[in-house]
Amino acid sequence: MVTIRDPKSFHRLAAFFFTPRVQAMVRDAIAPSSELRLLDAAGGTGVLREACSPCGFYSFDLVMERVKNVRASDPDAGAFVGDVTRLAAADKCFDRVLATGLFHHLDDEQSILAVEEFHRVLKDDGRVVVLDAIWPINSLNLFGYMMRKMDEGKYVRNEEPLKDILLTKFKPVQAGKFSSRWLDYTLMVLEKR
Ligand SMILES: C[S@@+](CC[C@H](N)C(=O)[O-])C[C@H]1O[C@@H](n2cnc3c(N)ncnc32)[C@H](O)[C@@H]1O
Repeated sequence: MVTIRDPKSFHRLAAFFFTPRVQAMVRDAIAPSSELRLLDAAGGTGVLREACSPCGFYSFDLVMERVKNVRASDPDAGAFVGDVTRLAAADKCFDRVLATGLFHHLDDEQSILAVEEFHRVLKDDGRVVVLDAIWPINSLNLFGYMMRKMDEGKYVRNEEPLKDILLTKFKPVQAGKFSSRWLDYTLMVLEKR
């Protein structure tokens, strides 16, 4: 298992995989505007903060050093240490919830708690954008398998099981798979049921 403790190295690695093309996909899914409040759930070092601009930006992560990195790069960001399975946020206070690279760190029980929390804090006309690691689309992508096996997140899924968890509280607006460098991801946009 690979754990990257230094927040700057963590940020550089995330930026390597979240290429400008991926950032543009996230931006399209969010449709940002200055009227919107966005929660970057498990936001890490805030590598997708620019893609969310000009939304009001809030993020939670378990790791203080990563939260500090978000604060240092944007003093206006509301960046907090916190657990997405019990969010310290009011009901229906966000227009967007972004969760990138989160669910492969959560087992099914924790994932359902996070989905319930996203549903609770999201406004009724809000939207959840999920981008997460999936197993390689091409069964010959051995490098992709190896990288996913080495990931700190122990719960890499295929797209369908992840979608089933999200559909407990949300309905899909858009769902698809893509590759970035040698790794595969799913990107889903969902609304409240
Ligand atoms: C792969 S990183 C993704 C970070 C960021 N979203 C990105 O795309 O660069 C996963 C992040 O989830 C955070 N995390 C894992 N479980 C969490 C939880 N229960 N609550 C909040 N953050 C969590 C980790 O600390 C880590 O920063």
